[in-house]
Amino acid sequence: MEVDYNKISRQYDDVRSADLKLISLFSEEVEMNENTRILDFGCGTGNYADKLQKVTGAKIYGVDPSDGMREKAKAKNSNVVFYKGNDKNIPFDNNFFHFIYMTDVIHHIPEIRVMFNELKRVLKSNGKICIATQSHTQIEKRFYVKYFPTTAKVDKERYPDIEKIISSGKEENLEYINSVTYCDNQLVKVGKEFVNLVERKGYSMFHLIEDSEYKQGLRRLKSEIKEKELELETAGGTLVWFKKK
Ligand SMILES: C[S@@+](CC[C@H](N)C(=O)[O-])C[C@H]1O[C@@H](n2cnc3c(N)ncnc32)[C@H](O)[C@@H]1O
Repeated sequence: MEVDYNKISRQYDDVRSADLKLISLFSEEVEMNENTRILDFGCGTGNYADKLQKVTGAKIYGVDPSDGMREKAKAKNSNVVFYKGNDKNIPFDNNFFHFIYMTDVIHHIPEIRVMFNELKRVLKSNGKICIATQSHTQIEKRFYVKYFPTTAKVDKERYPDIEKIISSGKEENLEYINSVTYCDNQLVKVGKEFVNLVERKGYSMFHLIEDSEYKQGLRRLKSEIKEKELELETAGGTLVWFKKK
């Protein structure tokens, strides 16, 4: 079973959007204005690139290997430029960007050190990299693991844990700044919107579990939510920050 982002691109924006908390965390750490060049690496349909461009006026560039995802991104914001590329080839000159971020991408990267090497090449000295992901502890804490137990196993195999990201960055001679958790342990209401996301397989892991488990989990989720909205605790995410020396 494989994740096909060209196919996923058709409905990605029906179920996923930019988390504004992340935009504000980026802004707290990096000064951004119309002279700042920023790379959204693995930009997908450009949800973050679009919001960040509108909030900061910075020059945002998106890079993603999926034609389908980039098509959607281009239609969203003509002030952002989108290019085909991946962890081995980011089509920009050396030392071009002031800041690089990636949201929910690192689990798709086959060799993290290769990616860091390429990110470092296109980043200016003293420029920062921010990786938004989930730790293995956060993956285990996702409320929907109860309905789809194999997703935790599948995702712990795909997602490098935070220590692995830190050591890979250091091995590529990046300076590790810190890791920050965000939006964790918050009570949220879970209702029809989440059922819609699951029905449309809005997270790539739903493409990676057995169909029988997916269908059973969805049935259980729907019947519990039918009774009443559920109040559940969020697992949150982790930001891992590096700087180019
Ligand atoms: C879950 S989506 C995240 C998209 C976007 N960053 C967001 O937060 O909405 C993962 C993205 O990673 C991209 N991707 C997959 N393999 C990649 C690679 N080797 N290098 C860069 N991006 C990759 C996919 O095409 C997809 O758009």
